[in-house]
Amino acid sequence: MHFQRVKGFQDIYGEQVAYYRQACAIAKELFTLFHVEELNTPILEKSEIFNRSIGENTDIVEKEMFSFLDRDGSTLCLRPEGTAGALRAYIDNGCPKELERLYYLGAMFRRENPQKGRFRQFTQIGVEFIGSSSPFTDAEVISLFDNFFNKVGLSKIAHLEINSVGCADCRRKYYEKLTAYLTPFREELCGDCTRRLLKNPLRVFDCKNPKCANIINGAPLILDNLCDMCEKQFEEVKKYLEIFKVDYTLNPRMVRGLDYYTRTAFEMTTDRLGAASALGGGGRYDKLISILGGPDISGVGFAIGLDRVIALMMEENFAIEKRVPDIYIITFPDTFEQGAALLAEVRKAGFYAIMEYEISGVKAQMKRANRSKARYAAILGEDELKENKISLKDMQTSTQQIINLTQLFNFLRSN
Ligand code: HAM
Repeated sequence: MHFQRVKGFQDIYGEQVAYYRQACAIAKELFTLFHVEELNTPILEKSEIFNRSIGENTDIVEKEMFSFLDRDGSTLCLRPEGTAGALRAYIDNGCPKELERLYYLGAMFRRENPQKGRFRQFTQIGVEFIGSSSPFTDAEVISLFDNFFNKVGLSKIAHLEINSVGCADCRRKYYEKLTAYLTPFREELCGDCTRRLLKNPLRVFDCKNPKCANIINGAPLILDNLCDMCEKQFEEVKKYLEIFKVDYTLNPRMVRGLDYYTRTAFEMTTDRLGAASALGGGGRYDKLISILGGPDISGVGFAIGLDRVIALMMEENFAIEKRVPDIYIITFPDTFEQGAALLAEVRKAGFYAIMEYEISGVKAQMKRANRSKARYAAILGEDELKENKISLKDMQTSTQQIINLTQLFNFLRSN
């Protein structure tokens, strides 16, 4: 019997693991520098919070949620994204008064058609700054987002795009204009766009159908139809981005796949992963917290698609720093137990140490020590042990020396 993974779900195994570890370590280091604290929310949430926040007419809510009816009659779902859960947790925890700066890292689930860079379970690193409507916060969040891609080493093949999608006020007027423009083309638009036209016209900019592209190219843009307040806010965001030295491109056609955004929206894209071009995205949400039952305050955040970042790092053959063993203990049949005792001591002293789990030939042990890339092989011969000594072989230079066991830790520390 051979069991296989569930469609769209992947194992993170072997060399991939080191890439994930490195990218997460870079993100966590940045979170410290940007004063962002960790938050962990459950993977399972009530479906209602996503229906309300992401929007009933989005692809995610319409067809991608892993929703099910629980035995008590409630409808639960595997979280498709982290923002709604983070805000639910913020509200559940009494809405702290200070600006909350939170990050989360974990699995998200969307029932999409699996392809390169698109999975049904994927990992996001997300950030939410909750409680400020200042454009400074937008720029700070975008700067953190941009810094991550710089530090990971993807800044040459990833491009930051920003836009403003306006507020409810400017959008209402804009929708009238957009609908007036699109309606005469109704017969030519694809089925999805015809539906979007009725329910959520901004979404037409998401359409990948080449037939629609020509029509949509001529459509009026939200960026040219912002109200004074949104316009001013966007100017401020751009000003702070310049101060923070963040390079970006203005993309007035960018709309996000979730309905909760107001004003600033941004994405990091690449042309190296086919259709899965977004490496991460985010924006401001001015109404979402109150929609979820919290106070009338705003937030801004992003999520990075870690699997796509890793796929790119691996494709580009990025070097990964991998810690190698400090010491590989090599024993003879009569010194195996002393070797085990030394192994425990060396580890207790904080060194990375390994030895065989059963007695084997010295030649085979040396081979494996070589393969492990250990800095030193410590050969525990009976004669040396009698004198409380150990033979240390430098695996790079192949030079060997005998040192006192009592000096081993100092030696490892200073070499
Ligand atoms: P999102 O744009 O839906 O935003 O997802 C963010 C990133 O997750 C995408 O840019 C992509 O890299 C990755 N991603 C999405 N779906 C998949 C998939 N099926 N397979 C692999 N990677 C995927 C959000 O989720 C918002 N919650 C971001 C946010 C936080 N906005 C404000 N705060």
